[in-house]
Amino acid sequence: MTGELSPIDKAKFVAARRAADLVEDGMRVGLGTGSTAAWLVRCLGEMVRQDGLKLRGVPTSTRTAELARSVGIEVISLDEAKWLDLTIDGADEFDADLNLIKGGGGALLQEKIVATASDHMVVIADAAKEVEALGNFPLPVEVIPFGWQTTQSLVEETLVSMDVMGRTATLRMNGHEPYVTDEGNHILDLHLGRIGNPRQVAMMLNQIPGVVENGLFIDICDTVIIGYGDGRVETR
Ligand code: 5RP
Repeated sequence: MTGELSPIDKAKFVAARRAADLVEDGMRVGLGTGSTAAWLVRCLGEMVRQDGLKLRGVPTSTRTAELARSVGIEVISLDEAKWLDLTIDGADEFDADLNLIKGGGGALLQEKIVATASDHMVVIADAAKEVEALGNFPLPVEVIPFGWQTTQSLVEETLVSMDVMGRTATLRMNGHEPYVTDEGNHILDLHLGRIGNPRQVAMMLNQIPGVVENGLFIDICDTVIIGYGDGRVETR
């Protein structure tokens, strides 16, 4: 499954491999989105096919659903699962309090809904994702297409009173078209530089009418499994 991996892929793989061992027979598991989460899905698929592991997976994107089915994982909806034992997902940044920025892959809305409906959320990440303060990675904010430019202005105005360094919100593009999420929305990427008070920023953003959800995951993640390019794994 792995062949010869680059250090970054090795780091992602070893974190995913360690997290896969947390999955027990009969569990309902939230399956994240992104390149690290894809390693997890492949690892779990192998455990299903080779070891007869029984699990039901709730994917956080159409991409992950397709991959999960292709490797032999039984896919169910969140409403069928009702509640999840565990969600395993990647992240764009994590800090010492295990707060996260997510949504670089555009799946933050389903990812947050699924993680919040889980007993435990485990993040798998390469060591470069660890930061002293969140915000260097542009913060994704999912907005409805109707009046998105008005929402963009409101977001930028709201940021003026926040403890952040930058305030620009740019529309994520897919070629010449606005990026469209699985829920049919757009994404504004907020270039903040440093977020002094992530809890407050998350709360204020979600009060703006056109905002559906933001990519700050506060008090949602319980554990981070960090992979290194030399194959070491560390758990926080
Ligand atoms: C997708 C996400 C991803 O988990 C995040 O972007 C990390 O991706 P990768 O594992 O490819 O670095 O939040 O919406």
